[in-house]
Amino acid sequence: MATSGMPWNRKDLISIEELTADEILTVFKTAQAFKKILNRRTAKTPALRGKTVVNLFFENSTRTRVAFEMAATKLSADVMSLDMKTSSTSKGETLRDTVENIRALAADIIVIRHSSPGTAAYIARVLDIPVLNAGDGAHEHPTQALLDCYTLHEKFGGLQGLKIAILGDILYSRVARSNIWAMTKLGAEVTVVGPATLVPKEFEQLGVTVSHDLKSALADKDAIMLLRIQHERQNVSAFPSLNEYTRMFGLNKTRLSWLKKNAVIMHPGPINRGVEIDSDLADSSQSVILDQVTNGLATRMAALYLCSGGNAESLVKS
Ligand code: CP
Repeated sequence: MATSGMPWNRKDLISIEELTADEILTVFKTAQAFKKILNRRTAKTPALRGKTVVNLFFENSTRTRVAFEMAATKLSADVMSLDMKTSSTSKGETLRDTVENIRALAADIIVIRHSSPGTAAYIARVLDIPVLNAGDGAHEHPTQALLDCYTLHEKFGGLQGLKIAILGDILYSRVARSNIWAMTKLGAEVTVVGPATLVPKEFEQLGVTVSHDLKSALADKDAIMLLRIQHERQNVSAFPSLNEYTRMFGLNKTRLSWLKKNAVIMHPGPINRGVEIDSDLADSSQSVILDQVTNGLATRMAALYLCSGGNAESLVKS
């Protein structure tokens, strides 16, 4: 377990809402130590040797699933990713029975993505092993926010006083919720912006500025995070057409100039090129989108390590 200098006494990683700023910084310091290891000729550590990590993804994923698989491999754990479309949940087995059976097969850590908010928290209560939330509906995606904020932390030396805009489908976004918690806990000023149907006033209760005016929302921002329109969670379209969304809110060269010079462009992926962002901006020198993906490996190594009782302080000193 963590020592007093590096707080972390959690079995699970369910949400950013429940973390303190110090706990988030412990993840960053641990991730930084793992980045050093990843740069060695033998980019591997025996930290989780003998443990088995099981990935249960009930929703599609590229980045999160591969990053968790690679993170477990780099920590020398055995890793299994179940194809939930062919699992026995399709025969009527409850989720509780599924995870208790996987636990009975000697799983040591479970990583779960599910369309229902609260699923990871429920599994964490049922099981006595670490459970990491890889996204639960529109609720939270904690490791995404950790890798996003770690990317900003590396780029700017910290988030205190940073001005950040999150643009797009805020209402249905677990990435937005987790990032709002993480960014504000770390001292950033966050503005959420987009059409009123996707950016409701209620978000002010989370300590952010809500705006529907793109030009004023982007003025003086150090970073902008674009979000995809999450059609899979919308019963009715929140705007008339994608073309109209792009015309009103898509990031293009002119709108980029409204931000601070050299502001960074972020996106959690998957990107819909030409919809929320011009394709050439996604590949521009101001884009840190692939840095975010790369940092997803070290931050998920840190999350797996810390939840397994790894000693952050000794790792950082090593
Ligand atoms: N950002 C993110 O969660 O991507 P995937 O859905 O590909 O995991």
